[in-house]
Amino acid sequence: MLNWDEFHEDDSAVAESSPQYAAPKPAPAKPAAEPSAEEAPEGGTGNRYQTADDERLARARKSLDELDVAAGLEELEMGAARIEVDDKQMINARADLNQLVPFKYEWAWQKYLDGSANHWMPQEVNMNADIALWKSQDGLTADERRIVERSLGYFSTADSLVANNLVLALYRLITNPECRQYLLRQAFEEAIHTHAYQYCVESLSMDEGAVFNMYREVPSVAAKSAWSLKHTQSLSRPDFQTGTPETDQELLRNLVAFYCVTEGIFFYCGFSQILSMGRRNKMTGVAEQFQYILRDESMHLNFGIDMINQIKIENPNLWTPEFQDEVTQMIIEGTELEIAYARDTMPRGVLGMNAAIMEEYLHFICNRRLAQIGLKEQYPGAKNPFPWMSEIIDLRKEKNFFETRVTEYQVGGALSWD
Ligand SMILES: [Fe+2]
Ligand SMILES: [Fe+2]
Repeated sequence: MLNWDEFHEDDSAVAESSPQYAAPKPAPAKPAAEPSAEEAPEGGTGNRYQTADDERLARARKSLDELDVAAGLEELEMGAARIEVDDKQMINARADLNQLVPFKYEWAWQKYLDGSANHWMPQEVNMNADIALWKSQDGLTADERRIVERSLGYFSTADSLVANNLVLALYRLITNPECRQYLLRQAFEEAIHTHAYQYCVESLSMDEGAVFNMYREVPSVAAKSAWSLKHTQSLSRPDFQTGTPETDQELLRNLVAFYCVTEGIFFYCGFSQILSMGRRNKMTGVAEQFQYILRDESMHLNFGIDMINQIKIENPNLWTPEFQDEVTQMIIEGTELEIAYARDTMPRGVLGMNAAIMEEYLHFICNRRLAQIGLKEQYPGAKNPFPWMSEIIDLRKEKNFFETRVTEYQVGGALSWD
């Protein structure tokens, strides 16, 4: 790997004609200042360095030749053959990743369009009723308060874990531009979700330190967060590359851990608890935020399922019986962690729910996740005790989803030019 520090020993070390800087600009009239840390490695500043030492220049060129850049950051190949749909694939593609079209995976582009059509912001939701209820002495029971606190505690950091996995681990390994387009949309939606939780915490004047530290202070919350983190670490190493059956399977583990388990199971106890509260006319602003988030999350989940299944189609050698067993175990493990979370958050019956009913629901969800990626259901006959959850997930914008939206909400309209 290229060690940039070597180049700072002598500003003249990097030539303007090195492969990384294929389009040299005229040298400045007088010596340029030392490049800042931000601009030095990638900013195309080769013209600031003058060739002075042939030996060091050759070494620099060799280092750059060996530099393994992420797919999409390679040099331009002038006059190369145009991209054909068949050149594209989910992982390990050699095709130019800077060209969105021609599309190969229409489903990925459609999800990008659908996600963009569902745009929303947390400030659109009126939180006044929630603030009054949260402040009143007898508006909520202690068990209901516990659910609000635990939910905001888990989710306020969980969406950051998901966003970091997308940006720091997954993105560069998915070698398809239309999927990357959706991943960029998803990453922004995760930022909106973290914003929404922060907005709830701020609106209710909750103890921010307690809420945002819950993922490392409350065991049932920490267990889920730690499980997710465990599955992002190997991919986030800068030297991790796919291309062998082992590393391709590691990528698949990450997809299962984040899409099927984190977003597909870990979110479901908290979502159903808060939405059940909203159905009882309590904490309706928080519930509305969760409703929007759930709608986004169900699309993230479906996109992840589509990616996993497409990778399986293109790389059938990865989906061995042993690997299928391993993935099944991962999903069962995630389900058990969510059941433990349900028990911790509902020591008694509350909101027409209890831990046993939630366990049934999570078995149903687990079966769904397994079936969606072609694996055998592990809890035969598990029923969905909360059919209203499916109705909420399926809500569409055109069905008055935004009828409670604050109409005076402004996007950038508050900018002052004085
Ligand atoms: Fe999210
Ligand atoms: Fe998500």
